[in-house]
Amino acid sequence: MTHDTTSEWRPALNWRVRPATPGDLEGILTLQQECSEAPHWSTASWLQILSGQQGCRPIRACFVVEGEDKAKSGQLILGFSVACCAGELSELESVATLLSARGQGLGRTLCRQVMEWSRVQGARTMELEVRASNAVALALYRTLGFAEQGARRRYYRDPIEDAILMTADLTTVQRAGELRAGE
Ligand SMILES: CC(C)(COP(=O)(O)OP(=O)(O)OC[C@H]1O[C@@H](n2cnc3c(N)ncnc32)[C@H](O)[C@@H]1OP(=O)(O)O)[C@@H](O)C(=O)NCCC(=O)NCCS
Repeated sequence: MTHDTTSEWRPALNWRVRPATPGDLEGILTLQQECSEAPHWSTASWLQILSGQQGCRPIRACFVVEGEDKAKSGQLILGFSVACCAGELSELESVATLLSARGQGLGRTLCRQVMEWSRVQGARTMELEVRASNAVALALYRTLGFAEQGARRRYYRDPIEDAILMTADLTTVQRAGELRAGE
């Protein structure tokens, strides 16, 4: 997997965002378990994504935010985002942050990373689907420049619910590298 965004430490909050590696699998699976709203992918699917073994096109990128795990004196995966890019169109497939780490800007940073990665890959538009009831995610996406384009009726199961389809113009979004630390 090729990533053009370099990792960046955020000293104020003691976390950093970086491209994911196969070593992040356990932390990602733990986080996925906690997030009922995020798509639940199998270990095999995650390993494919994290090892970059997915054929040529479309291509995927996964970024993680890691922070200090004071209890274990190690690093903890606080969030992840995944995007899939094919030509001029990219899809934000998943974003999630640890319940205890929410509201600190991690979700926005993770989205911006995959948006910037997609832009560098040549994508001009990013699309996504989100549960109509997921007010937090809808608010997050709007702050990132996504606009609602319509709905897919009864798209989700357990529970059955409409999906809101949103798109963003990647040619006008702010670049991840231009963010201030901690933003
Ligand atoms: C959606 C999610 C990733 C947001 O992560 P986060 O780290 O809390 O997000 P941020 O701190 O970067 O917040 C960014 C914006 O999200 C929105 N937001 C965050 N928490 C919110 C809350 N409790 N209520 C309303 N809006 C909220 C706001 O617009 C916020 O911008 P602001 O700080 O300028 O008000 C997180 O809530 C999550 O993991 N949810 C479960 C998985 C999910 O729903 N994923 C999306 C569908 S795949």
